Amino acid sequence: MSENFITRAFVEADYDPVVKLWRDTDGVEVAEGDTRADIAAYLRRNPGLSCVAEVDGLVVAAVLCGHDGRRGLVYHLAVAQARRGRGIGRALLAECIDGLRGQGIKRVLLLVGKDNERGRAFWLAQGFEEIAAALPLGKDVG
Ligand SMILES: CC(C)(COP(=O)(O)OP(=O)(O)OC[C@H]1O[C@@H](n2cnc3c(N)ncnc32)[C@H](O)[C@@H]1OP(=O)(O)O)[C@@H](O)C(=O)NCCC(=O)NCCS
Repeated sequence: MSENFITRAFVEADYDPVVKLWRDTDGVEVAEGDTRADIAAYLRRNPGLSCVAEVDGLVVAAVLCGHDGRRGLVYHLAVAQARRGRGIGRALLAECIDGLRGQGIKRVLLLVGKDNERGRAFWLAQGFEEIAAALPLGKDVG
């Protein structure tokens, strides 16, 4: 099994293997906004910011990234279980942050499940801080 991975932009043709990865990943919830058409639209709106990692030509990790002109947002970072702990998650996040910085974005936000201890440890290791003073809120408007 090769230890080498490459990172590259997430393109529409990656949809099937990426959604399979997300469905197989505890800590990532495939939800509204994740249909093929929705992801294609998201990638077009935020060109070059989302990325995947490949080993031997197969997608082993993915992340969605975009911004609204003010804050960067990162969603659905997932590394295939057998490939974890090798720096792939860190590398994908670094790509996202470089891309956001290149577009003038100075702060990044994300949500992690309260019961996702591994995900929480990863984000803290990457320098993210919990926002104790804020309560995340949401509403379906579609
Ligand atoms: C979280 C996840 C993306 C990390 O990917 P990964 O490729 O295994 O992480 P890396 O090997 O790049 O590790 C990067 C850093 O995080 C730390 N880290 C990773 N997993 C960790 C864990 N379980 N506990 C503590 N630290 C952890 C590593 O020590 C490393 O620290 P460093 O940068 O100081 O060297 C991966 O475990 C995953 O896909 N989890 C399931 C999906 C998920 O929870 N995603 C987040 C949703 S918000």
